[in-house]
Amino acid sequence: MQHFNLEDIENMSNLYRLNLINSVTGYKSAHLIGTVSPEGYENLAVFSSVVHLGSNPALIGIILRPTTVPRHTHSNMKSTGIFTLNAIHKNQIKQAHHTSAKYPETISEFDKTTLEVEKRKNFNAPFVKNAPIQLACKYLSEYHIKENDTRLLVGSIQDFYIADPMLLEDGWVQLDKGGVVTINGLDGYAVPKLKERFPYARPKQ
Ligand SMILES: Cc1cc2nc3c(=O)[nH]c(=O)nc-3n(C[C@H](O)[C@H](O)[C@H](O)COP(=O)(O)O)c2cc1C
Repeated sequence: MQHFNLEDIENMSNLYRLNLINSVTGYKSAHLIGTVSPEGYENLAVFSSVVHLGSNPALIGIILRPTTVPRHTHSNMKSTGIFTLNAIHKNQIKQAHHTSAKYPETISEFDKTTLEVEKRKNFNAPFVKNAPIQLACKYLSEYHIKENDTRLLVGSIQDFYIADPMLLEDGWVQLDKGGVVTINGLDGYAVPKLKERFPYARPKQ
């Protein structure tokens, strides 16, 4: 096994450290976040840090990089109060990855990729057509993380849409039935396959 200590980490080239630290903590969720500016410009960006915060109320968290450069997803969700979370399908990975390119605010990533907008009633932020899971979310608040100038954005789930075969009788969503991908590091996309599901674990008698 290879071993790295803190000094090794500090002395690594930026690229090596970025690759190593982003991938060593495991597979990440893969989402496209859809927003619209108050002026009506639609925006789409890939995020790997969407986490479950709680189910009642249904809350999600997103880690946002430092706002030392314009962050359109963030400014749009703050000013409009809404955003969409779209799971990435295995056939969408190349286009999804391209949404991380830095386009000006007035250019929509929907126009620079083959990903298509899907509009839904009473919700102004764009969904991604053919995304296996689409969540309509409300922006609630954010917490600054002083250690690295990032932010934890907190959102609540308002509505959601799931492709039929994925939703099982007890409410559990079988992601592999919808071709949902996961992210390895910052540039690798993988397709997980369910191995087994277990009953609620209780202490052994
Ligand atoms: C695989 C991948 C995952 C990413 N995850 C995040 C993330 O969790 N948080 C973040 O702030 N940026 C993340 N980014 C960077 C954004 O996609 C990128 O900054 C994008 O330009 C943001 O667009 P916006 O300014 O339109 O919001 C990720 C990029 C890639 C390629």
